[in-house]
Amino acid sequence: MLADLQHITKYYKQPGSDILTMVLDDISLQINENERIAIVGPSGSGKSTLLNILGTLDKPTSGKVFLDGLPIEALDDNSLAGIRNSFIGFVFQMHHLLPQLTLLENVLLPLLPQKDKTAQKLAQERAIHLIDRVGLTAHSKKYPSQLSVGECQRTAVVRALINQPRLLLADEPTGSLDAANADQLANLLSELNQEQNVALVIVTHSLELAGKMDKIYQLHEGKLVLA
Ligand SMILES: Nc1ncnc2c1ncn2[C@@H]1O[C@H](COP(=O)(O)OP(=O)(O)O)[C@@H](O)[C@H]1O
Ligand SMILES: [Mg+2]
Repeated sequence: MLADLQHITKYYKQPGSDILTMVLDDISLQINENERIAIVGPSGSGKSTLLNILGTLDKPTSGKVFLDGLPIEALDDNSLAGIRNSFIGFVFQMHHLLPQLTLLENVLLPLLPQKDKTAQKLAQERAIHLIDRVGLTAHSKKYPSQLSVGECQRTAVVRALINQPRLLLADEPTGSLDAANADQLANLLSELNQEQNVALVIVTHSLELAGKMDKIYQLHEGKLVLA
């Protein structure tokens, strides 16, 4: 099993008061190798919170997170950063590319911590292959401001895959795209799931994107139920 969330709860304190609001209410979720999962639900229902807990960007108030069988709470910050880097890829609604770097440089950015020259070389070859795979070779030397939103988002997908993660987490990845680009990205994600052996957990409002996944969960009033 790639990831195992056990009895996750999350409470937030309201700013300026001691009142706690429950966002996630005893959620358990297992994610298997190569599985494709969509999480849908109204705005404010806790989808991003859940995805961030799964991606170790946020901590639950209670409950346990296991990645690749490892209990996350037992790891120090270094090991956690290591796991996050090698095991998980993230795609957000906004591409978060660095404006001062070219497409290729943005894609290569996650490789900076890699000191092994051979591994770096292989990763660079993979970058070039993946950029080609998503149809962006002719744009490699362009800066984000010279790319369309759809091209930027495809670049963000390549960047997320560059370290060969087992788990790709995407938070409304088609949220800022028009219908045609959203469709293209949805197809690309489901193809890459197979080609790259990567499980997908996608938070989305798009029923079309959700429909391409194996399972659709609905988050409602803190509970996660199969739709
Ligand atoms: N850091 C935070 N502090 C306080 N409340 C938060 C924080 N982050 C999110 N929330 C609240 O938790 C709820 C769920 O937020 P979120 O996970 O972003 O929902 P979704 O992604 O489904 O729109 C919202 O009511 C939001 O206001
Ligand atoms: Mg959100």
